[in-house]
Amino acid sequence: MAEKNMNDLFLHNLKDIYYAEKQIYKTLPKMAKAAASTELQEAFEAHREETAVQIERIEEVFKILDKRAQGVVCEAIQGIIEEGKETMDDFGSSPVIDTALTGAGRAVEHYEIARYSVLCALAKQLGMKDAVKLLDQNLQEEIKTDKLLSQLAESFGTGSTSTSTSTRKAA
Ligand SMILES: [Fe+2]
Repeated sequence: MAEKNMNDLFLHNLKDIYYAEKQIYKTLPKMAKAAASTELQEAFEAHREETAVQIERIEEVFKILDKRAQGVVCEAIQGIIEEGKETMDDFGSSPVIDTALTGAGRAVEHYEIARYSVLCALAKQLGMKDAVKLLDQNLQEEIKTDKLLSQLAESFGTGSTSTSTSTRKAA
């Protein structure tokens, strides 16, 4: 087998995020449905629309590489999504569901930020200016979404009254 190079590494990362974005696209409606507040519901819905465009940008990058758009199974994102589903099951009827959902959403965003940061750096090293532009647009949207989710989490507070302090003491 030929020795793998930087191009191979870039392509593998691209396939990985392509798979991840498609999984995220499928999961976001479930998260929106589970959200109690309209703001969080709208944030997830808006990010789903953004995700559709992000998938198209990744397809553009595949075109630049003259490769077929194709994902590769990413167990990391599967695990993060699985954990999100558990959160929805465990906290579905709890007053802290929205805080829990912002946490699940932020785990996804941080994963994506890590991947896009690497992809941007690799594309830069490979001198692929157009790819850098496309991938950086996705990166900036993930950073913005992460910030929005963190602001929403702060606005939700603890989701309960005096019980939170006593629970914390007991823990
Ligand atoms: Fe994304």
